Amino acid sequence: MFKKFFSNRIQNTPPSFIRESLKVIQNPEIISFAGGLPNPISFPQEELKISMNRVADKYGDKLYQYSQTLGLKELREFVISRFNKIHGTAFSIDNIMITTGSQQALDLLGKVFINEGDNVLIEKPSYLGFLQAFCLYSANFCPVKLNNDGLDIEDLKRVVNRHKPKLAYLIPNFQNPTGIMYSEENRKEIFEVIKDEDLILVQDDPYGDLRFDGKSALAYIGVNQTDKNIYLGSFSKIVTPGMRIGYVIAHNDIIRMLETAKQASDLHSNIFCQYILADYLYNNDLEKHINKIRGLYKSQASKMVECMEKYFPDGIKYTVPSGGMFTWVTLKEGQSALELFDKAVEKKVAFIPGNPFYINEKSVNTLRLNYTNASEEKIEEGIKRLAQAILEL
Ligand SMILES: Cc1ncc(COP(=O)(O)O)c(C=O)c1O
Repeated sequence: MFKKFFSNRIQNTPPSFIRESLKVIQNPEIISFAGGLPNPISFPQEELKISMNRVADKYGDKLYQYSQTLGLKELREFVISRFNKIHGTAFSIDNIMITTGSQQALDLLGKVFINEGDNVLIEKPSYLGFLQAFCLYSANFCPVKLNNDGLDIEDLKRVVNRHKPKLAYLIPNFQNPTGIMYSEENRKEIFEVIKDEDLILVQDDPYGDLRFDGKSALAYIGVNQTDKNIYLGSFSKIVTPGMRIGYVIAHNDIIRMLETAKQASDLHSNIFCQYILADYLYNNDLEKHINKIRGLYKSQASKMVECMEKYFPDGIKYTVPSGGMFTWVTLKEGQSALELFDKAVEKKVAFIPGNPFYINEKSVNTLRLNYTNASEEKIEEGIKRLAQAILEL
């Protein structure tokens, strides 16, 4: 009825498959490996409650007032100093802006950088929230094959030479949807290919802290040449997604443009939550909290891998995660993940078929499983059901 009113932009953008499928799988009998929900253990509820009361007493009406677009200074200081410590960089407070989750940063990047038809290099498969955000700006996606240790370098060279992309969007740590981590060597090779190109490199890193072995993060790509690098981070997976707090770190000229775009979008992110989060961060041991999450996710991931090994029929491949929240399953050649989805839902188990993570792929035999939001018993039962559905394909 409203078709003639809606913009071409929105009409050409598909709704998120995940949000749509969550409607199907709301039945509590369904064991869901579909969403990307953190385990509630990652929410430090008691500590946040204390922070809420403390900031209410300490700051009074400031909590309820309009605030700066760039975000709360204390929060920006905490984030930039932690980032510099981890990566050995020397960013200042002028290099960071708080965003409404890193999802908003993706939207703002589209606003700031993308003219209709601009070439954008992505991983194949890529994060569907990014594809959706950039689809709204009519980007032309140029996918590069992803291997178990990162981008396929030959494919990267081919895409860079042929399409001269303006921007590249990568998730080098525990990628969504595949869960893979780029090796150190792969990161260096990527940098060699792109360093002299006119290319903005966006590295989206909501999962980098969730490394099961607890080792420090691998250097991000081009860590020593930061001008054309944009780094996105988020508190969603290490404190709480509900507060919707993420951040972007970049050259201050880029931050200035993003600030203008953000003014037009929402003036500023929720300041109440920024006060609470900053208070939490200054009064608690974040690294200790992250370690707790790592330990939990490590055992949930091991359980899922153990069950896939035990129950899946021969010929089904999957990634063995070393961090993050997902594993990526590849069915046999010719098998359809969408067909499996229907069979699996009948057996009361759900996942995300690979389709929405690709551009223009019709027959897809891959799927994403999330292990962080189900108990080990549920993981075992769910994988058993999924194995049965695969056998019936
Ligand atoms: C790769 C990636 N980027 C961004 C986001 C959005 O996260 P946020 O909650 O910070 O908006 C997600 C969420 O799952 C993600 O997987």
